[in-house]
Amino acid sequence: MAQNINVTSPEFDYTIKIGSGLLDKIGEYVPAAPSVVITNTTVASFYGKRLSQLLPNSSVITMPDGEQYKTLETVNGLYPELVTAGLDRSGTVMALGGGVVGDTAGFVAATYMRGVRFVQIPTTLLAMVDSSVGGKVGVDLPQGKNLVGAFKQPEVVIIDPDVLATLPEREWRCGMAEVIKHGFIADEQLLQPELWDKTQAEILIARAVAVKVKIVQEDPYEKTVRAYLNLGHTFAHAIERVSQYSWPHGEAVGVGLVAAARLSYVLGLCSAELSEKVEKVVSTVGLPTRIGDLDPAELFAAMGSDKKWQAGHSRFVLLKAIGQPVIAHDVEAGVVIETLRQLKS
Ligand SMILES: NC(=O)c1ccc[n+]([C@@H]2O[C@H](COP(=O)([O-])OP(=O)(O)OC[C@H]3O[C@@H](n4cnc5c(N)ncnc54)[C@H](O)[C@@H]3O)[C@@H](O)[C@H]2O)c1
Ligand SMILES: [Zn+2]
Repeated sequence: MAQNINVTSPEFDYTIKIGSGLLDKIGEYVPAAPSVVITNTTVASFYGKRLSQLLPNSSVITMPDGEQYKTLETVNGLYPELVTAGLDRSGTVMALGGGVVGDTAGFVAATYMRGVRFVQIPTTLLAMVDSSVGGKVGVDLPQGKNLVGAFKQPEVVIIDPDVLATLPEREWRCGMAEVIKHGFIADEQLLQPELWDKTQAEILIARAVAVKVKIVQEDPYEKTVRAYLNLGHTFAHAIERVSQYSWPHGEAVGVGLVAAARLSYVLGLCSAELSEKVEKVVSTVGLPTRIGDLDPAELFAAMGSDKKWQAGHSRFVLLKAIGQPVIAHDVEAGVVIETLRQLKS
């Protein structure tokens, strides 16, 4: 039985459907007007053919696989394909894939003909619990992550946990980074390893999605509490950039959570126990807790292009306790760099 989670957004309300076997019913949820599925080469190799059969009137367009393709160049290449596919203003763009496809296709949907309808069909755990919900879409610039984007709400989000069967183990762990992030922000239950079993993915996803939905409904345009969802992300985005995206987003978030918790402790915001707990949960999931050979000073410098740092003033989401995130401004560079240095080994 599929679960429906209803989301109120400033433009319209939409439903997140979660349930085994939903992919096979996709035709029921897509508007009858022309539609185009944007996916990548890897996801197409698993599900492209099936989707073409399920949606005989839709074109399937593929982009290359990888964060390095979440760019304006890719977007530029997709627009003419939509024209060729005959997509007009009544049409729908569907994103079938992980967060990279979702963010890129969503940006295309937000801008093509000043915006067409958009449907999210996330296929990674990360995209299911995080990126497909809340309407943020966009691409990276060489100067930093997600620097060009828009808010584009989906008409519907279709989550079929069955597609996780083909997801590599490493990508599952990356998704778990966002699940535990939601746990630390707002739902301690998500931190219980008993809930992490893949056989119960549907329950885990629904619970993790619920945290994000509650926050984005309260603050759709990130004026206040939505910023809490960036816990660990100032560090993570710097790690991704400095490593030239050889670190996947989820692994960078894992270390980012550890760094944020340690910084919270150093600044006197939380107990040593909480900082240790964050590290333990991250390592139990199987995510990295150390920055390896990345240079702390270089990481700090890379944080300067974080779009949340207004006029160069640092801003971190930190933790006072589980369920109590806080925002800290103007943390001294030396303190941040020293925190990262301690994560060298
Ligand atoms: N918009 C938002 O609010 C938001 C939130 C969080 C993250 N993000 C973005 O999401 C991106 C990361 O997303 P991701 O972790 O899903 O990475 P991803 O999209 O690169 O997917 C990870 C890998 O899994 C493969 N894959 C996807 N589904 C599969 C399946 N079912 N079976 C087998 N392989 C599959 C992909 O081809 C890729 O190689 C980052 O760009 C990040 O910035 C956006
Ligand atoms: Zn993230």
